Amino acid sequence: MTDIARLTGRPVISATGLFTPEDSISNEELVASFNEYVRRHNEANAEAIATGEIEPLTESSVEFIEKASGIKARHVMAKVPVLDPEIMAPRWPQRSNDELSILAEIGVKAARQALERAGRKAEDVDAVLCAASNMERPYPAMAIEIQQELGIDGFGFDMNVACSSATFGIQTAADYIRAGNAKSVLVVSPEITSGHLNWRDRDSHFIFGDVATAVLVEDSGIAPKEHWDILGTKLKTVFSNNIRNNFGFLNRAYPDEAGGPDKLFVQEGRKVFKEVVPMVAQMIVDEAARLEIDPAGLRRLWLHQANTGMNRLIAHRVLGHEASEDESPTVLDTYGNTSSAGSIIAFHLHSEDLAEGDTGLICSFGAGYSAGTVFVRRAG
Ligand code: COA
Repeated sequence: MTDIARLTGRPVISATGLFTPEDSISNEELVASFNEYVRRHNEANAEAIATGEIEPLTESSVEFIEKASGIKARHVMAKVPVLDPEIMAPRWPQRSNDELSILAEIGVKAARQALERAGRKAEDVDAVLCAASNMERPYPAMAIEIQQELGIDGFGFDMNVACSSATFGIQTAADYIRAGNAKSVLVVSPEITSGHLNWRDRDSHFIFGDVATAVLVEDSGIAPKEHWDILGTKLKTVFSNNIRNNFGFLNRAYPDEAGGPDKLFVQEGRKVFKEVVPMVAQMIVDEAARLEIDPAGLRRLWLHQANTGMNRLIAHRVLGHEASEDESPTVLDTYGNTSSAGSIIAFHLHSEDLAEGDTGLICSFGAGYSAGTVFVRRAG
């Protein structure tokens, strides 16, 4: 039972949780599978290639992937079918409606860890937001399934803002606390991005990985002694077709048509790079000014994990110098791009060493375009 008089209306992050799938695919394994697919495809289409009817496919390379993106490996929920040149997609047995959905299952694992770290009982949580870039189904909401599995008496809903889902979720949760509509909100981001990745597309087959994160946003009056004060949150969206996925029930292939690669993730990577870096850097600097925080004094940046080059440039513009790994940690190398979960993984794995009073920034950016900033300060 919460004493209402203790509530302050000030949102904090009480704890985070992380679920990492056991299986991981190295660049070497990924490229070997991709190149075998290329070989088989070109062999099967040798005649059409010889007449110039179709272009041969080109091999991928480990060196390119690491140099262009900084990614060395990615975790996945189903390694064998993803690497099988005849399948190249995740596969698992269809679950019945009475079983926990796979997205909910990994979300619950991350959520339980966040609750445990906060010393919080599920029944004291008021709401669950499932904030992720790919939902398993339109309804019932994944969030409500997670709520049910955890035994939370309150409400839940799904929200999708692509790679910025988690920060948009944190601001939404923080607004519930600020308005007094909730005192404890779980923001869960299960990201099975291997399902939306086109593993046959040379330009992007290396980008994504699977994971789930959870962030417990609470009123400071009930938070554990050690927590992170949320100093301010800011969201921004600007429409762009440069990252797009056309999958949907109004836009699916009919049984007699081919599915089409646009029902998976597609992007103009170079344009994304060029347009998003200045937008996000400016947004961070503006928001820091609004909060009267000197960006150069930020102790750590937990940035969205899509590309090391993008993060280097953004961090440089914010801090005014080349960021060290300590100032802007990378998890992209072993996790790949995990969409909205990336900045939360970085925060989860690289925040314990900060001292009371240290200020940092959780920041996401991605499709939409969408970007979110959450400035936090260590307390307790
Ligand atoms: N293996 C080997 N070579 C490859 C390759 C692969 N898998 N994929 C592309 N190449 C080649 C291209 O054919 C091209 O060759 P060319 O110069 O002879 O034409 C060259 O490498 C450069 O390709 P490009 O696509 O322009 O690479 P890039 O340097 O822009 O890097 C990304 C690609 C995707 C890593 C990079 O643009 C990026 O990270 N952008 C931001 C993406 C992002 O954050 N998206 C958000 C997702 S939520």
